[in-house]
Amino acid sequence: MSRGPRGSNPYSKPDVFTQRAKAAGYPARSVFKLEEIDRRVQLLKQGMKVLDLGCAPGSWTMYAATRVGGKGRVRGIDLTPLNVALPANAETRAGDAFTPSPEVDAFIRELAPYDVVLSDMAPSTTGNRFSDQQRSADLVDRTLDLAEELLAPGGSWVAKIFMSEEIQRIRTRVRTLFTTERIIRPEGTRSVSYEVFLIGEKRKPV
Ligand SMILES: C[S@@+](CC[C@H](N)C(=O)[O-])C[C@H]1O[C@@H](n2cnc3c(N)ncnc32)[C@H](O)[C@@H]1O
Repeated sequence: MSRGPRGSNPYSKPDVFTQRAKAAGYPARSVFKLEEIDRRVQLLKQGMKVLDLGCAPGSWTMYAATRVGGKGRVRGIDLTPLNVALPANAETRAGDAFTPSPEVDAFIRELAPYDVVLSDMAPSTTGNRFSDQQRSADLVDRTLDLAEELLAPGGSWVAKIFMSEEIQRIRTRVRTLFTTERIIRPEGTRSVSYEVFLIGEKRKPV
């Protein structure tokens, strides 16, 4: 990801979204991105089952758990274990989306088919934009592999991607799997960020 003028790091500065997130009890400002996507595409409903890939520090998991309510369930994984209290309908494990251990793999699959697969996964950035873009695209392809296996017909998929030439190829893949495909850059995205969210709605019948 890029830096602001004179080398200042815009990611280290608490902005209005970070302050609002903390005040509302969320560990990260990213909650507002999911909230906007949810509002715009009517993503999350009571009773749904949700898989949250790259869930740490936990804002999306907390938000999704609230939205799906007591009859819904949320399962999340991340390379980093979560350090927040979650509602009773949400559970997470530490694991790699590419190479989950047998326990984490079973944890993910146990609740399938899911109604929604979310991914806010981002590679740790190297400073090499092309390499970062490729690693982001690889993560998104992985989420689509998992969606193909674990998402119910009619279900939805949301994944963050760093903009690159790979987007067109991935959007084509999304259109083969979903009835509706769209791209959203939520207002809460930092101005210097080159991330967007790809969304697939109404998974086609398998
Ligand atoms: C922007 S953060 C997610 C924030 C989260 N949505 C929230 O609201 O709290 C991106 C996360 O992706 C995770 N991640 C990156 N690569 C991953 C992988 N291969 N498997 C699992 N998680 C991964 C990182 O560890 C990081 O915690």
